[in-house]
Amino acid sequence: MKSFKSLLITGGAGFIGSHLVRRMVNHYPDTQIVNLDALTYASNLKLLDDCEKKPNYQFVKEDINNFERLKELFVEYQFDAVVHLAAESHVDNSIKNPFLFAQTNIQGTLNLLEASRQYWGNNAQEQRFYHISTDEVFGSLGTEGFFNEKTLYDPRSPYSASKASSDHLVRAYFHTYGLPVVLSNCSNNYGPGQHSEKLIPLMIKNIVAEKPLPVYGRGDNIRDWLYVEDHVEAIDLILHEGKPGETFALGGNNEMKNIDLIHLLIERVDERLNRPKGTSLPLIKFIKDRLGHDFRYAIDASKVKNELGWKTTTSFDEGIVKTVAFYLKN
Ligand SMILES: NC(=O)c1ccc[n+]([C@@H]2O[C@H](COP(=O)([O-])OP(=O)(O)OC[C@H]3O[C@@H](n4cnc5c(N)ncnc54)[C@H](O)[C@@H]3O)[C@@H](O)[C@H]2O)c1
Repeated sequence: MKSFKSLLITGGAGFIGSHLVRRMVNHYPDTQIVNLDALTYASNLKLLDDCEKKPNYQFVKEDINNFERLKELFVEYQFDAVVHLAAESHVDNSIKNPFLFAQTNIQGTLNLLEASRQYWGNNAQEQRFYHISTDEVFGSLGTEGFFNEKTLYDPRSPYSASKASSDHLVRAYFHTYGLPVVLSNCSNNYGPGQHSEKLIPLMIKNIVAEKPLPVYGRGDNIRDWLYVEDHVEAIDLILHEGKPGETFALGGNNEMKNIDLIHLLIERVDERLNRPKGTSLPLIKFIKDRLGHDFRYAIDASKVKNELGWKTTTSFDEGIVKTVAFYLKN
């Protein structure tokens, strides 16, 4: 297993990033963990209050679009590994403002790749650049089949197209400059700390407030849900054991129609609030479908299971209980 002296995590004040920062700070006390985040609307640094005083943790407020500053930070902190999560991540926002998504997700990733290459040199061996990506780059599945590492790219929203572009740049840096990159494409994450614009926290918030629950189309779209702590465990494994140039598909093997998920959330939240069963069902409001809405995502994660021994440890039932508890408290 590889070890690193100084790890840069970008987007560590976001949903997945905050779970990853906490895991790395606690599991690797001899590694300096630098969390770089521009603190956009999607961030919440309070999620990391428990890490603030840890001697191996440092926060840097910076934008990945500031290339000159990124180069200085590599020299200052002597990073030998990067896990890159900073991104604009909400599909609906990408439909309204695609330029911002191209800027942060494509140009920002290129800035980080180039800053890494300039600091590590061509054909670096010991360092790692780990790019966190999404299964949305593969487009949409019908009722059958799964995405895996060999699936051809077919992004359909400005968000997924910007993530696909960044994946291509990361691989180009491996082939052209020998930058030691690893990538993973993960399915939908859920858990504590996600911004309330996203499906699960939004539904919980609205059920509590007795507000309408907007559902795109008829709610038939299918997503494969992975508990965020299981995702960060996979990231930890891939960072330390994945070989340069490798890609891993990550998923929870847990497909669900959006409407079924919403019914489940209604049941759990009503139960927790001691409301009679079915109280919040009339809040469901079907709305005009999202433009270019992908029908189904599902992942075959056998490569990471067979090669690195990863497995999920949180069942969907357990994960949803923890998730609902978090949002009711916060
Ligand atoms: N959430 C999911 O279900 C999911 C699934 C697969 C992959 N991903 C990928 O994982 C990563 C993290 O996703 P998330 O859900 O935690 O996102 P998020 O929106 O919760 O967090 C993103 C973080 O990036 C920061 N950021 C945005 N623009 C920045 C910039 N220009 N410079 C520096 N920081 C900036 C934000 O302030 C925020 O803290 C993203 O790259 C996303 O594409 C997410």
